[in-house]
Amino acid sequence: MKNLTADELRDKYLKFFESKGHTIIPGASVIPENDPTVLFTTAGMHPLVPYLMGAMEHPAGTRLTDVQKCVRTGDIDEVGDAAHLTFFEMLGNWSLNDYFKKEAISWSYEFLTEHLGFKPEQLNVTVFRGEGKEGEDGYIPADEEAVEIWKSLGIPEERIFRLPREDNWWGPAGTTGPCGPDTEMFIDTGKEKCGPDCRPGCHCGKYIEIWNDVFMQYNKNEEGKFVPLGRHNVDTGMGVERTICMMSGAPTVYDTEIFAPIMAKIEELAGLGSSSVEVGSGSEKGAPLNASDLPLNDANSPLKDSNEILRAKRIIADHMRTATFILCDPKGSVKPGNIGANYVLRRLIRRAVRYARMLGIGEGFTVKLAEVICDKYSHVYPELKANLEQCRLDLEAEEKRFNATLDKGEAMYKKVAEQLKLHGQSQISGKTAFKLYDTFGFPLEMTIEMATKDGLTVDKEGFDEANRKHQELSRTTSAGSFKAGLQDNSEVVTRMHTATHLLHAALHKVLGPTANQKGSNITAERLRFDFTWPEPMTAEQKAEVEKLVNEWIQQGIDVSKKMTTVEEAKAEGAMALFGAKYGDQVSLYTIGDVSKEICCGPHVTNTKELGSFKIVKEQSSSAGVRRIKAVIGNMG
Ligand code: SER
Repeated sequence: MKNLTADELRDKYLKFFESKGHTIIPGASVIPENDPTVLFTTAGMHPLVPYLMGAMEHPAGTRLTDVQKCVRTGDIDEVGDAAHLTFFEMLGNWSLNDYFKKEAISWSYEFLTEHLGFKPEQLNVTVFRGEGKEGEDGYIPADEEAVEIWKSLGIPEERIFRLPREDNWWGPAGTTGPCGPDTEMFIDTGKEKCGPDCRPGCHCGKYIEIWNDVFMQYNKNEEGKFVPLGRHNVDTGMGVERTICMMSGAPTVYDTEIFAPIMAKIEELAGLGSSSVEVGSGSEKGAPLNASDLPLNDANSPLKDSNEILRAKRIIADHMRTATFILCDPKGSVKPGNIGANYVLRRLIRRAVRYARMLGIGEGFTVKLAEVICDKYSHVYPELKANLEQCRLDLEAEEKRFNATLDKGEAMYKKVAEQLKLHGQSQISGKTAFKLYDTFGFPLEMTIEMATKDGLTVDKEGFDEANRKHQELSRTTSAGSFKAGLQDNSEVVTRMHTATHLLHAALHKVLGPTANQKGSNITAERLRFDFTWPEPMTAEQKAEVEKLVNEWIQQGIDVSKKMTTVEEAKAEGAMALFGAKYGDQVSLYTIGDVSKEICCGPHVTNTKELGSFKIVKEQSSSAGVRRIKAVIGNMG
């Protein structure tokens, strides 16, 4: 393998595809235009959808190649492991109804082996195994054509894996649009198999996906059906960070030359030595490449564990890179704020600030890191330099604002802790933790972190309870309309509450009445919903649920609330948590004829306020119980 820099890789890739008749086109903005279904550009295909659909001809022809800035925050909790990032660059080559599988796969193989120097035996590939029965509705054949092409290139049967739609299907970017089966290329890191079923896509970290060739032959229509597109497009995406990581043999993406100056700056600011260890355990799509542990100089840090320090550094590096690219985007339309994309940006910056404080990094670091990121990238993305001044101002303001909040909160926390100790107590009550959060904007996680350091515990359940009561109250006193003074979190959380009811109703419609709620948990980033169901949902079922929820959102249905008794509510057909204890009077929330649920609330007044809805994960929670994680978009 060659040890290329990201600059060399981009250059090599674009030149290679230019030599195959492609025109190099500029990548698009990370902020999508007029599209409420996504907050950010998540893949290279996204800006090209009209051309892939054949709605218009691309001025640069039918063979295109580019580098696309992508932002994906669905896996934000996984950031800090070996391969997850909220921002990444994607190299792409495109056939707009021009060449198809044979050329796409052969060129991928040629580029990987002859130009990047991967050994053919390191390569493992997955292909779509098909679904349904021939002649029946919904039948999509297996991609045996791709299998044959891989074999003709010398990839043996045992390194070709036929997987279901869950693994080997891409798209569409929004709820409808072009999509199709794909073939994904994985590098075998040479690690031990995690078990007898270890294979590409099992996420244990042995196989790392670096490239995906999508054959866009289908369109997902309004009814959620896959209909032939009447065109044969190719959309490929190669991740720059992961490829560089695999080529250099670095244990994680943060140990590549891409992140080197950013990590070095963080270490300098924190007064820490450099390090290279693995964090976390296996996770979807990207998994640890190495599992070792190195000691760090953490004398000044409230984080005791070296893994925690490492994770904090990575989160800061990742989040600040993403924030810098968003703030410097030529569109300039996303600023730290409380709704949609603005809120995502705020969370990224604030999360970085929190982790920086834990590492003892002082105020002003966001701008310093943005400068390093700008230095590293502006020759490729001149917008970074052009918009750095504005980015600086925005970062400074947000960091100051949040630090002031945290300072005040910390001071209050200290008083609380002193009082407790004075009285020989060791637990911070939920009410107090909530007061710190609600009155001083001090995040619960910070209270917990500081309490842990002081040998105290925090009543988290009590916090949730206080939070719920407060939201109920705010809801009532604001007479159905939100006041600007509410905590930024609570507005999002309220919208998530309503989204949860719609999701529950949609699951009943799609899976039937046995898909019953087992529990739910809402944060400002996502909603989580557990329900009884014996097997993984199919891709169609998920698509159908998403579609229904989005339709209800679009319909702008009013949400009403009344006080009643459990019996009366049940008599009206209301859903309730089986086995839950309710008081004499309960709130019954009704969303048109879509949903009726007993719930403490709070809820929005109209479903339109949710913007859009997307399932980001569907996984097993426990035996017979599935878990959905979903997000809502902007206000559209
Ligand atoms: N759209 C596909 C992906 O993002 C290939 O570019 O993986």
